[in-house]
Amino acid sequence: MKITQLSCFRKLLRHAARPGSSAVGRFMLWGMNRGHAPVYEFGLSHVELPRGGRILDAGCGGGELLRRMAQRAPDATLAGIDISPASVEATRRRNRLEVETGRMEVKEGSVEALPWPDATFDLVTACETVYFWDPATAFREVARVLKPGGSFAVFLEAADPDAARIWTDALPAMHVRTVEELSVLLADAGFAPPAVHRKSAAVTAWTCLVAQKPPRATARA
Ligand SMILES: C[S@@+](CC[C@H](N)C(=O)[O-])C[C@H]1O[C@@H](n2cnc3c(N)ncnc32)[C@H](O)[C@@H]1O
Repeated sequence: MKITQLSCFRKLLRHAARPGSSAVGRFMLWGMNRGHAPVYEFGLSHVELPRGGRILDAGCGGGELLRRMAQRAPDATLAGIDISPASVEATRRRNRLEVETGRMEVKEGSVEALPWPDATFDLVTACETVYFWDPATAFREVARVLKPGGSFAVFLEAADPDAARIWTDALPAMHVRTVEELSVLLADAGFAPPAVHRKSAAVTAWTCLVAQKPPRATARA
């Protein structure tokens, strides 16, 4: 790759880690809503959406995963959080009706300090975002806001650090961890061993981990 191409690639990738409000950031959010659609579908095929429950999408980006869950779980109430104001705005726009009717709230904030009380949600999802988290702190926060017996579903396109070098070399803020590393972090946060689902895709392999917070309040969070 030439130096100018590399610099453009890096600039673009920075908007994946934390989309900005420039045209490039908005284009990235639009692109992720479309480009991640197969990963959402793969992940959702392994997740039971709670009837009448509460769902949080952490690192919600452009809001398309929330839109799909809102359609499929008509009795559920939903929430999104993202550290990027541009992502929050895009998610609110994408889910305008749900937000206006109060069925969905979208907050700007960090997964390392979730602004909800203990035991609020039945399901927390995170698609293509844990690479950018402080996972030890964030997983404990997810465990804290989940109800006992609730589930944490992580959807990934990258779980092989070597294969992901093209991304991580260009974007130092991105950390690709193996399923084994993520499982240890989940266990440390108080989750039961996750169910792991994988599927080979055109260029990469998708991974879905679903970890349960133990039904009784024995979690260490
Ligand atoms: C690659 S995008 C994925 C967005 C969306 N989940 C999707 O699948 O299209 C990563 C998102 O995670 C958000 N993010 C990164 N670190 C975060 C953190 N610590 N807390 C909350 N959101 C974070 C970014 O702002 C960005 O919107």
